[in-house]
Amino acid sequence: MNWLSPSILAADFNRLGEQIHCVRDCGAQALHFDVMDGLFVPSISFGMPVLESIRKETDLFLDVHLMIREPIRYVGEFARCGADLITVHYEACQDVAQTLAAIRETGVKVGITIRPETPVSVLRPFLSRVDLILIMSVNPGFGGQKLIEGTYDKIRELRAMMEEVLGARTGEGIPRVEVDGGVNLDNVAYLIAAGADTIVTGSAVFRGDIASNTKKFMEILSAQS
Ligand code: DX5
Ligand code: ZN
Repeated sequence: MNWLSPSILAADFNRLGEQIHCVRDCGAQALHFDVMDGLFVPSISFGMPVLESIRKETDLFLDVHLMIREPIRYVGEFARCGADLITVHYEACQDVAQTLAAIRETGVKVGITIRPETPVSVLRPFLSRVDLILIMSVNPGFGGQKLIEGTYDKIRELRAMMEEVLGARTGEGIPRVEVDGGVNLDNVAYLIAAGADTIVTGSAVFRGDIASNTKKFMEILSAQS
């Protein structure tokens, strides 16, 4: 099943609770939580206390994307504050395998991601240790950017590599494939056709009529499930 994971980076933080209920009521299965440290990426967003408050407010699957250097330092805290899945950047970890194992140990699901300039092949050793692989379709750090065209080929390449290494592209025990950055109602169907099954979208959901935007995404996602 395809999932929609709206990124709250584009939400109105004065009305966060209300907007989270709105995307849930309109069918989103997850919520994407972008953590930025001002070092791995130029900007700073939000962290543990905000996650903890959201956890009290919703039963949505909380998909935490850590754009921070040496994320192993914080995986325990994010798990404690209510993450259901923690995704770390391949480029941000001194020891990727150890970081993924540290996430697994907390009991939450494990995700790995790469920046647009990093080749998909670096993920090969980690495919069997993760629940989700995120292909960044913009340079991480800001919402509202344009999707990089090479993303479609990267997703196709990843699915082919998954088939080679794991013996299947989809199904039980096969990691989800997420795409994040510049996703909108015009390109989402092509991203799903390329092999993405978990769709992050910030501005295309939270700017304008949130209910109507979410419903339009869900129609496309369910038609292609
Ligand atoms: C970018 C973040 C994204 C961002 C997506 O660094 O990881 O999750 O919020 O926002 P849009 O959909 O506006 O590109
Ligand atoms: Zn993100």
